Amino acid sequence: MKKMGLFGGSFDPIHSGHLAMAQRFMQRLELDGVLLMPTCVPPHKIRERMAAASHRLAMCRLAVGECDGLTVSDMELTREGASFTVETLEELHRRYPDTEWYLFTGADMFCTLRTWYRFEDIARLAVLCTIPREGTDTAQLLAYAEALTADGIRCYVDPQPVQPISSTEIRRRVTAGEPLDGLVPAAVAQYIELHGLYREDGAMDTRTKDQQFTQIIRARLGDYRYHHSLCVAEEARRLAERYGADPQKAYTAGLLHDIMKDTAPKTQLQILSDFGILLDEVEQQSKTLWHARSGAVFLRHILGVTDEDILQAVRYHTTGRAGMSLLEKVLFVADFTSADRDYEDVDVIRCLADEALDSAIQYGIDYTIRDLLEQGRPIHPNTLAAYNDIVLSEQNGGQTNEQ
Ligand SMILES: [Fe+2]
Ligand SMILES: [Fe+2]
Repeated sequence: MKKMGLFGGSFDPIHSGHLAMAQRFMQRLELDGVLLMPTCVPPHKIRERMAAASHRLAMCRLAVGECDGLTVSDMELTREGASFTVETLEELHRRYPDTEWYLFTGADMFCTLRTWYRFEDIARLAVLCTIPREGTDTAQLLAYAEALTADGIRCYVDPQPVQPISSTEIRRRVTAGEPLDGLVPAAVAQYIELHGLYREDGAMDTRTKDQQFTQIIRARLGDYRYHHSLCVAEEARRLAERYGADPQKAYTAGLLHDIMKDTAPKTQLQILSDFGILLDEVEQQSKTLWHARSGAVFLRHILGVTDEDILQAVRYHTTGRAGMSLLEKVLFVADFTSADRDYEDVDVIRCLADEALDSAIQYGIDYTIRDLLEQGRPIHPNTLAAYNDIVLSEQNGGQTNEQ
């Protein structure tokens, strides 16, 4: 039997206290994992400046990114209307029949459990767990738990209180322009800033999108990859100016192209599965390709990038493909010719890039294929298709067919 925790809440926003609580329970109760479930907020409970469900979900996904054992479910958000806890538990039992569920609630909610819709069923479907808050009287909590136990209801009160952090306080700080100081994971703080959540009207971030993206990649990448991304952005802009692509888009695509490159493979797989992306057979065998797929998904669903051109350029920057768009070509080449690159032959491809973009693409594809052959690794079909596309068009004396 697997043991899983279920932690529902509006998570507006998720904060370090939620994560500490989930991790504490996981450790104490020896759980295999914890499922965070952002809940639907019924219309009459929607506060002013409340973050949209998609934002709350995205922040949960960002928060669990680096926490082992924590996953996020959109089950309640994708259901029509608000759902009752008991319905969620029934659904989880249907989906995962071999799992024992532990339901976490905050201390305040715990003391109202008996009033919950179909409480007896909830108690049958899950062990009821809570944790006292530091500085509050736990006597009432323990008395309530004792009474539940006396009625044969399985429950657990953690003996050690957690530091109280509240989402209300976090929202207040953001509105007042005060620092969040580790109250939320760094990625969540950036997300709040990027999307202007919880601000007074008109107090939007005055930085440009690229400045915000730069700060985000700074936090997500190591020094080497961060420097590389800045160099690729510059080079992409230069090539775009030379070949008539949009220099602004090229710069943004360059900044963001490796955004997931330093993220653990497990986390990348998680984000792909969260958004229903299946890796093909070659991709499954080639971890180095994952960051392009997970990067595009991260940009679309978490950072809210909507420009398809940029998303496709990131998506295909490792493999290339037949019929690459001009922006895709620019990014593909810039990744080879950026100022930080110092491999043998880099000057050759730099010269080619200044003569004709397609010649540089061909060189890049050849290089990639040779490298894979030497290492005995599989070649992605998109790379082969890009190769054929370019060679055939060369023979026809023209440019490749752009998408
Ligand atoms: Fe890359
Ligand atoms: Fe790169």
